Amino acid sequence: MNNCELCVPDQEEHDFFTGRCVLVNGPVIVGAGPSGLAVGAGLKQQGVPFVIIERANCIASLWQNRTYDRLNLHLPKQFCELPYVRFPRKFPNYPSKHQFVGYLESYAAHFGIAPRFGETVGSARYDGACGLWRVRTRAAAGVVVGGSCESETETEYICRWVVVASGENAEKVVPEFDGLREEFAGGVVHACDYKSGEGFGGKRVLVVGCGNSRMEVSLDLCHHRALPSMVVRSSVHVLPREIFGKSTFELGVSMMKWMPIWVVDKVLLGASRLILGNIEKYGLRRPKMGPLQLKNTNGKTPVLDIGTLSKIKSGEIKVVPHGIKKFLHGGVEFVNGEILEIDSVILATGYCSNVPSWLKESEFFTSDGFPRNPFPNGWKGKDGLYAVGFTRRGISGASLDAIRVSQDIGKIWNRETKQKNRSVGVVCHKRCN
Ligand SMILES: Cc1cc2nc3c(=O)[nH]c(=O)nc-3n(C[C@H](O)[C@H](O)[C@H](O)COP(=O)(O)OP(=O)(O)OC[C@H]3O[C@@H](n4cnc5c(N)ncnc54)[C@H](O)[C@@H]3O)c2cc1C
Ligand SMILES: *[C@@H]1O[C@H](CO)[C@@H](O)[C@H](O)[C@H]1NC(C)=O
Repeated sequence: MNNCELCVPDQEEHDFFTGRCVLVNGPVIVGAGPSGLAVGAGLKQQGVPFVIIERANCIASLWQNRTYDRLNLHLPKQFCELPYVRFPRKFPNYPSKHQFVGYLESYAAHFGIAPRFGETVGSARYDGACGLWRVRTRAAAGVVVGGSCESETETEYICRWVVVASGENAEKVVPEFDGLREEFAGGVVHACDYKSGEGFGGKRVLVVGCGNSRMEVSLDLCHHRALPSMVVRSSVHVLPREIFGKSTFELGVSMMKWMPIWVVDKVLLGASRLILGNIEKYGLRRPKMGPLQLKNTNGKTPVLDIGTLSKIKSGEIKVVPHGIKKFLHGGVEFVNGEILEIDSVILATGYCSNVPSWLKESEFFTSDGFPRNPFPNGWKGKDGLYAVGFTRRGISGASLDAIRVSQDIGKIWNRETKQKNRSVGVVCHKRCN
């Protein structure tokens, strides 16, 4: 396998690749978030070498660089552990993001996982002629990659297996609104660049978007004495995070073992109504379908309330149940003609997968960057392609994927490479101009 001829540019694309070329004996994993780390841990345990490529300069960059300071895990801790290593005992029920990141750091250290930072995968393509994947990366701007050729910023990794672990939330979604860029004079940030409400004190802030982020950003703004208004156009399920002292999520999971999903939904909604009251009074319309059924059919996660609702009830957070028509110099006009004066906008408008932008493949992944086969069958494709962390089931879904993927690769690797020479990352071709 360590044949340098592999590195000559393949015939199919006719492009001349002048970067560095690295043969990887083992899989290339794209992304060093929780999913990539969990696969790495599983592979390490079986003695399979691998390379993890990460565009950021640290592990779990979503958590470290693209979430707000006060974030805590949404789900109880027992549902957010990676395989093989438990959380420290002293962790609270809902660990803070700093605790979670600390856990991930020590997880990576424990398994000796050292990703290649500052490299972005720009394409990955299966080369049928030699039965290998070609994964091309470029150094992220401003990051110096080790090596003597400073002009080299492109690398091609050649490998048998590719594990896609780039995440469901790889890129932010920024919808276009009339006037937001041209007219509106205040600040605009996406939720992934929002760190805290500091600096928003006394400001009128419009929070646009859907789901949990919108609710939590609004609450955080309140804690910093800002004046948030939340646009809630579509229906949404808000559930209490706990029902009579028990985690709602956990309750749901355990009831599902005994009852059909629609009965569980009825129970959860009944309890929610008892605890939260009628939320429709505050402009929060509930979907027709129950919360778990909705999650199962289109992946829409119910909001677990951590205090936003009481701020809505007290009027500290305003709910605007109308769509946005356009932004004005110092405000926003809604479709019903109402005008609201605002100082800033926060776009909690979500994220998307970036897989279609780099993976040259359209059988296993759909055009929105998720595996075609739903959970639990979306982890293995053809020709050594794998996916981890696209189940819309958070860390627990990612952990299940990771175990399957690492065992599958481990089995083949151990069978096939026992007799062979095991060298990792041989640099077989190098050009400097
Ligand atoms: C605000 C927020 C709160 C959440 N809370 C919870 C929770 O409480 N519990 C839970 O289970 N889940 C939660 N989630 C879901 C969470 O995203 C996942 O559970 C977890 O981070 C998924 O891990 P991942 O490794 O699959 O993806 P990510 O954490 O997104 O990691 C993917 C990595 O791949 C890198 N990458 C992407 N594209 C490329 C490329 N082309 N080249 C190189 N590297 C690339 C990224 O930089 C990133 O570091 C939350 C998500 C958000 C946004
Ligand atoms: C991401 O956060 C980590 C930890 O705070 C920091 O070391 C790193 O430089 C940050 N990266 C970017 C690109 O901001």
